[in-house]
Amino acid sequence: MSHLISPSVLSCDFANIQRDVEMINNSTADWFHVDVMDGVFVPNISFGFPVIEAIKKHATKPLDVHLMIENPDNYILEFKKAGADILTVHYEACRHLHRTIQAIKEAGMKVGVALNPHSPVSLLEDVICDLDLVLIMSVNPGYGGQKFIQHALTKVKQAKELILKSGSKALIEVDGGVNASTGADLLKAGADVLVAGSFVFNSESPIKTIEDLKKL
Ligand code: DX5
Ligand code: ZN
Repeated sequence: MSHLISPSVLSCDFANIQRDVEMINNSTADWFHVDVMDGVFVPNISFGFPVIEAIKKHATKPLDVHLMIENPDNYILEFKKAGADILTVHYEACRHLHRTIQAIKEAGMKVGVALNPHSPVSLLEDVICDLDLVLIMSVNPGYGGQKFIQHALTKVKQAKELILKSGSKALIEVDGGVNASTGADLLKAGADVLVAGSFVFNSESPIKTIEDLKKL
């Protein structure tokens, strides 16, 4: 399988969401990466259900929803209703992670677990076979446009080993500071899905930048 590209709409022009969603529809991107921040788990607030619903109304590709929120269990069904196809929660935000994973699946979504830069891949050993996606954070979550943390490359390799060893079908997604150069390194290390926000939306031609990432 060739790798997937999930542009992060956090960096889009919110006054022109429909235009930017249609740009992604018409591009070679595979998913929409949708970042939800609650101002508690991370020091920033992004958007909630009405914005996700607005994106869903126009999107022709799956919504890859990345929850950077405390108590995600309280909102699983609402995210499904708003249009999430893949729902990723943070390891650090889930006291009963196994229960959360099962609840997301029961709600009819694919499930991912994200690891902050300080959380080792080994934390996922006992749930890896239940996951559709492992999200390796290559910045501390909360903001677009941050610098890539090189250690993420080692973690991608470790995640790949864990997946091969366990027989899990999980994809490895990487989020934060992805550009053509870090993206190429990540793919070499074993990444399956690249998230890119500022690199896409701050470029002269987002559609061409997505294509360049897809061709890496
Ligand atoms: C960061 C978010 C990212 C963000 C990535 O907390 O999870 O998805 O949009 O932005 P860039 O690609 O600019 O680092
Ligand atoms: Zn994200």
